Amino acid sequence: MSVCEFKPGLEGIPAAQSSISFVDGQQGLLEYRGIRVEDLAQKSTFLETSYLLIWGELPTREQLAAFEHEVRYHRRIKYRIRDMMKCFPESGHPMDALQASAAALGLFYSRRDLDNPAYIRDAVVRLLAKIPTMVAAFDLMRKGNDPVRPRDDLDYSANFLYMLNEREPDPLAARIFDVCLMLHAEHTMNASTFSARVTASTLTDPYAVVASAVGTLGGPLHGGANEEVIGMLEEIGSVENVRPYIEECLQRKAKIMGFGHRVYKVKDPRATILQNLAEQLFEKFGHDKYYDIAVEIERVAEEKLSQKGIFPNVDFYSGLVYRKLGIPTDLFTPIFAIARVAGWLAHWKEQLAENRIFRPTQVYSGLHEADYIPIEQR
Ligand code: ACO
Repeated sequence: MSVCEFKPGLEGIPAAQSSISFVDGQQGLLEYRGIRVEDLAQKSTFLETSYLLIWGELPTREQLAAFEHEVRYHRRIKYRIRDMMKCFPESGHPMDALQASAAALGLFYSRRDLDNPAYIRDAVVRLLAKIPTMVAAFDLMRKGNDPVRPRDDLDYSANFLYMLNEREPDPLAARIFDVCLMLHAEHTMNASTFSARVTASTLTDPYAVVASAVGTLGGPLHGGANEEVIGMLEEIGSVENVRPYIEECLQRKAKIMGFGHRVYKVKDPRATILQNLAEQLFEKFGHDKYYDIAVEIERVAEEKLSQKGIFPNVDFYSGLVYRKLGIPTDLFTPIFAIARVAGWLAHWKEQLAENRIFRPTQVYSGLHEADYIPIEQR
């Protein structure tokens, strides 16, 4: 490949050397630090998986207990941040609220002491601990309610669901939510991770790194697709409407939300796990007719799109799980962000270890030696 060959979307161009996660898009394989995601989903927790991603190995019992303890006791947010969030418009999207609040954390904690491992650890702990509190606080405040204080006796995911719903969650619901966070924690060089690494490479503070990644995750071609999936299920409304809907979409070359992936050319392994979790939830808490619509979409789409390597991605079933957990649709992407903070921080740390500022090139396609035309002649 010539140095100047332009690849839209940088497809296939390595942007970093990384040992954090691995995807085999042909086999449908995803590993975090070499461990299959299916294994982690069965045996680990979100905080243990975050430790693995960020520090590169599974923690010992003592290391995990210390890390969980620190995260647990940093969940509260300063009243000034709460007051700032109270001024956000209630019609604003929670992703925008999260991006602004994550950046605001930097006002309080930024010292840019990037060579100091204690600073790195504090930043990791603060971001993992406070982001769920900020997501839950904005949701309650936009409804006119006071935010709920985090509960120190609850685990990470149970506490988040408690802050959101003001009641302790069922243990199965909390465990399933924790697995969802693990599945969304990291995924190689995607758009938001690339954003995080570019921002990290300027040696700015980690709050700015996370804020830039949150902004990137919000788009409908990336993390925002899980919300769009629910919109699509609502629009379709019944199993009978699926085929005409999909055929009409494909005819006007519209994308089916929750399908397709730059890397996976088979069903995303996370979609398979999420589908299974959705079924467990329906078994315990009652069926959701949107699940039948989703299964029918997958069947029709397989007929029409599998030859192009288009299959369900992580976003296709995650929305159904969150819906059953009683989570509002516009919080799906902020929840994705809560999880992905772990991956972004792992990449931030890896980028700092061998940093060089990102400064790609471009293929110029504009004019040269153009005349300046006076305004009255334009
Ligand atoms: N529905 C129908 N056709 C699709 C879909 C889809 N969801 N995705 C890709 N295709 C088709 C395209 O129309 C194109 O067909 P063509 O070659 O006949 O023109 C071909 O597959 C290649 O599509 P691209 O858009 O070039 O693929 P790319 O790798 O650039 O895009 C992406 C990947 C953005 C995920 C795309 O599949 C998409 O827009 N999907 C819907 C949105 C979505 O679910 N995003 C979440 C992704 S997972 C995540 O970010 C966490």
